[in-house]
Formats: sequence, structure tokens, C-alpha cells
Amino acid sequence: MTAFFVTGAGTDIGKTWVSAALLRFWRVNGLQPAALKPVASGYDPSASQDSDGAVLLAALGRPVHAAGVEAITPFRLRAPLSPDQAAAREGVRLTVADIAAVCAPLIAQARGPMLIEGAGGVMSPLNESETMLDLAVAFGAPAIFVCGSYLGAISHALTGLAALKGRGAAAPLVLVNETPGSAVDLSETVATLAAHAGTSRVLAVRRGGDSDWGQASRALGVAA
Ligand SMILES: Nc1ncnc2c1ncn2[C@@H]1O[C@H](COP(=O)(O)OP(=O)(O)OP(=O)(O)O)[C@@H](O)[C@H]1O
Ligand SMILES: [Mg+2]
Repeated sequence: MTAFFVTGAGTDIGKTWVSAALLRFWRVNGLQPAALKPVASGYDPSASQDSDGAVLLAALGRPVHAAGVEAITPFRLRAPLSPDQAAAREGVRLTVADIAAVCAPLIAQARGPMLIEGAGGVMSPLNESETMLDLAVAFGAPAIFVCGSYLGAISHALTGLAALKGRGAAAPLVLVNETPGSAVDLSETVATLAAHAGTSRVLAVRRGGDSDWGQASRALGVAA
């Protein structure tokens, strides 16, 4: 079993979209991938089919129903806020230890590469002292870091990558998900980021175009 932690520069950056694309790529290439979205805020139980968990399930070719979504999203919070704030609204306190304990058997069951999608950005808070970064470290899963191509995205990406590195977390793959309407050139962003990103493989994800998921998979050491 190989698990990867899908994180990024912030919320809405494309973590679920790239995860779904990679999961589909693995499936059509004969692997049996798996996915988890351990913590989701802004989760509406009456619209579970619109959640990240539902997108991931569909990409896995599994039936999309509430029970399935809830199984891969064990910590669901209603308020569309950072996890710590959303949890506080419900009188709940999330901890890395609790999340990791619930996820461990699910990760152990995976029969192929697993993607674990974080909530928000790499240091999205879970409680008053822990963030998503602590969860990534607890899982010990190498990170797939998703960033955009807007002006400022390079610094956001390098800051996030430095945070991962500072905790000894590997980030073998950086995906620059094209920001719609940005005047910044995607290829130049990839090249600049690659020059600064050390050993991380930096690849472009073009909107409406083909992306090289084979190359992305190889960067992760997953033969597909
Ligand atoms: N490369 C892409 N091509 C087309 N649509 C995309 C692409 N990347 C992201 N999107 C769309 O942009 C929106 C935000 O992307 P996504 O939900 O993947 O972000 P996220 O980082 O997972 O957000 P969250 O922090 O809420 O989990 C979604 O509607 C998604 O379908
Ligand atoms: Mg998402």
C-alpha cells in the first residue's frame, strides 16, 4: 500500500479535481486505487452527492451514495469554515490522533495507491495547536502539492513546500493547476517553480487540455 497526502496552497485550488484525474488514470491502467477525505468542512448531509467524497468515489468507479461518502469522509462538519472553526460550531474538537486512528484501518485496507485529500491548505487548522501539516506528518504519506498559476502562486507554493520540508515531509510531486483567466504563463510558472522546488517534480495541469498523468504517476513511484 502506498498513500499520498494531497495538499496545496489553499482551498479551492484543485486538490479534488487532480485527485479524481489521477485516480481515473490509475484505474484505466489496471490499478485498484483508493481515496480518503478524512476531514471535510462545509459538508451538507442532504447534498452528499456534491461533496469531495462523492467526486472521489465517482473517480474510483464506486457507487455514489451517502453511506459511501461518509465512509471515506469520517469527519464531516457543516460550516464552510476552517476545520477548527467548523468543529467548534458543533462543540467538537478535532485532533490529529483521533483522525489518524480512524483512518489507519482504512489506509491499511487499500489494495492500490491511495490519495488522502486534506482540507484547505497545508496549514489549515484542525484545532488551536494542530494543523493539516501535523496530520500529513502523522500519516507519513508523501505529499502531492497543488498550486495555481495566478500571480503570487509561486510564493504560495514555495511557502507551503518549505513548511512540508521543515517537518521532514517529502513532496515528490507539485501540480500547477492552471488558474482560469490568469495572465501569467503556465509553462513559465512551472519552470520557475521547478528551479526553486528542489527534488520535487513540477508538472502543469492545463484546463481543458490533456495532462500527463503517466509522468505524474512516475514521479510518485507508481508504475501504471
Ligand atoms: N484543472 C481543472 N479543470 C477544470 N476544473 C477544475 C480544474 N481544477 C479545479 N477545477 C474546478 O475548480 C473547483 C475547485 O477545485 P477543487 O474542488 O478540486 O478544489 P479543492 O482544492 O479540492 O477545494 P477544497 O479546499 O474545497 O477541497 C471545482 O469546481 C473543480 O471542478
Ligand atoms: Mg477538495
